[in-house]
Amino acid sequence: MEEKRRVVSPQAQPTDRDYALRPQRLHDLIGQESVKENLAILIAAAKKRGEPLDHVLFYGPPGLGKTTLAHILAHEMGVDIKVTSGPAIERPGDLAAILTNLRAGDILFIDEVHRLGRAVEEILYPAMEDFALDIVIGKGPAARSVRLRLPRFTVVGATTRLALVTAPLRARFGAVYRLDFYSHEAMEQIVERAAAALGVEAEPGGIAEIARRARGTPRVALRLLRRVRDFAQVRGEGKITLQIARQALDLLNVDPLGLDEVDRRVLRTIIEKYHGGPVGLSTIAASVSEAPDTIMEVVEPYLLRLGFLERTAQGRVATAAAYHHLGLTPPEDAQKRLL
Ligand SMILES: Nc1ncnc2c1ncn2[C@@H]1O[C@H](COP(=O)(O)OP(=O)(O)O)[C@@H](O)[C@H]1O
Ligand SMILES: [Mg+2]
Repeated sequence: MEEKRRVVSPQAQPTDRDYALRPQRLHDLIGQESVKENLAILIAAAKKRGEPLDHVLFYGPPGLGKTTLAHILAHEMGVDIKVTSGPAIERPGDLAAILTNLRAGDILFIDEVHRLGRAVEEILYPAMEDFALDIVIGKGPAARSVRLRLPRFTVVGATTRLALVTAPLRARFGAVYRLDFYSHEAMEQIVERAAAALGVEAEPGGIAEIARRARGTPRVALRLLRRVRDFAQVRGEGKITLQIARQALDLLNVDPLGLDEVDRRVLRTIIEKYHGGPVGLSTIAASVSEAPDTIMEVVEPYLLRLGFLERTAQGRVATAAAYHHLGLTPPEDAQKRLL
């Protein structure tokens, strides 16, 4: 199945339209308590010194609030935010054009910062460190480098793959925060608030059910909420009850833990084709006809979080919990393979 079509995909889809539901201020953001507390200090300190924010890097699985936080930072600092992404900045000149258009204090949000090209990154280093842009004028022996001063600005980077961010780039971020999956309580609050914002009547049981199946990911919760609302309007009386939520989510093939067909296929491949593992990522990806990056970025994190999958030096291993979830009996030596 294409990742774009999965109702539980943590990646943004064109029909999500949850821009309007985005929290605007730090205190509106539910969950991520430690990140919030750290950011509050960062913001207060910068304001006190009358300086722009330090460069900030957010990393973690998709759909957890990295882009939202970048906008919140701009809002809290009262500055403009310019949004771009690693793959969008193709040539050094593209970045130079962006940088020379920034004003003091502005935030440059670079999504998927691990996908910046090498030549572009080299421009970014002095820009982040010294607020300088080195441009080469002329060619060959007559070429000379001129240093332009840039206003003091802030880079906010986001990535789903911290390991792919080069060491020199990472070193230029003064603050690095990891976003983790949300607790069940936080997910309930997010669903509850979104239901209120959408004007949908929802009982606590219905809210809890959506929260439970949303993989600890706000983006998924908002999408499921919309689909359950549709179901409630067509098959029910418009109100999201526990029963309506269950029926709607079952119909969407989202199981009680939030797993869908893709997750189950990945687990079944490891269990049935490779006797529980260990098996390499690319082998799994080929068996389920998905790109290895998709498996790694959007499928595995939640399975790891559930404790259904372990990464070992030899490859991925399905845990006894994964067998049980699929209604299978784990082999005697299931635990040994994890060593
Ligand atoms: N802590 C939160 N509280 C409420 N809604 C959230 C929260 N984090 C994210 N969201 C919602 O989830 C959606 C996806 O978040 P986003 O910031 O785009 O994720 P990421 O950039 O990490 O992929 C946003 O549109 C926002 O409405
Ligand atoms: Mg994002």
